[in-house]
Amino acid sequence: MQILVAAPGFEDKLLAELAIHGISHERIGDLLFEVADDCPPLSWPINQWLNAERLPIDSIGHAAKLLRERGPYWQCFELNHLRRCQLIQDKLLKVKNKEFAYPPPKALKPMGAYCLIDENTLLCAAACTRPFASGIIPFEQDRVNPPARAYLKIWEALTLLQHAPQTGEKVLELGAAPGAWTWCLAKTGAEVHSVDRAELENGIDQLANVHHRQCDAFALKPEDEMADWLCSDLICYPERLIEMIQEWLEHGHCLNYIITIKFQGETDFEAIKQLQAIPNSWLVHLFNNKHEVCFIKHPSISGNSMPAWAPV
Ligand SMILES: C[S@@+](CC[C@H](N)C(=O)[O-])C[C@H]1O[C@@H](n2cnc3c(N)ncnc32)[C@H](O)[C@@H]1O
Repeated sequence: MQILVAAPGFEDKLLAELAIHGISHERIGDLLFEVADDCPPLSWPINQWLNAERLPIDSIGHAAKLLRERGPYWQCFELNHLRRCQLIQDKLLKVKNKEFAYPPPKALKPMGAYCLIDENTLLCAAACTRPFASGIIPFEQDRVNPPARAYLKIWEALTLLQHAPQTGEKVLELGAAPGAWTWCLAKTGAEVHSVDRAELENGIDQLANVHHRQCDAFALKPEDEMADWLCSDLICYPERLIEMIQEWLEHGHCLNYIITIKFQGETDFEAIKQLQAIPNSWLVHLFNNKHEVCFIKHPSISGNSMPAWAPV
């Protein structure tokens, strides 16, 4: 079995996605959902605990021993019996939970995830799709430089991808204002060609490697842009973005995509299905996403499901 973790406030989206696929589940607390191992690619979990086990335990020491037998590093998901969990954690190798700014100071090592369902039942998985049990990456917030909180989305996407634009590469960034993503992308050293109908704030358009245009993003053609990365946080209907992604994929030059798909009103599960069918890409809900998902495509991705987390 595996455990799916929902982002707080988005449990109903995950439940709707499970219903669409006819996947039966057992809910554990508010945010955990136990399902069978053989799930199709899912977009709404913010972590998947793979090959999870429910294990009877008779003591704290017993729980710690069972975890140590399965892997070196473990992180507790705070479900309940938190004091007992802390005593288990004290018997395991220390894991760092310190906040960090993007990029992570060093490779994020794989950690198992566990919680106590009741005093005598351990739920654990040695491998997860994301590097933290809850699915939440502990970013240290920057309230000074980026002009919007949206920077956390691109930090999260790049952290999960474990690849970023390189110096000299061309990033075309659509829907860039007020400029939080632009600020992050410029820090990679790439040439960031930002596009929005509005201006960028905080002098971000003055950065040497930022080239801002005020125009309609949908007027741009892949053959004129020849970008290495297409990044978009545009507010628009999913169908328009799907058309644009298809056009760029057909053109074939651009290999790297980070695109926010925003939903107004109901979640568009038909759009989700179409995006999930694009080979070698992930369509994932980020913890820092609102009612939106993130389409990520990169040559390092194979299939449509995130694999067990492993540093590259
Ligand atoms: C959510 S905001 C982007 C925030 C940005 N990612 C950041 O980090 O600061 C969406 C932006 O899309 C822009 N936008 C929407 N439709 C557009 C279009 N057709 N052409 C250009 N910009 C557009 C809006 O002007 C708005 O600034």
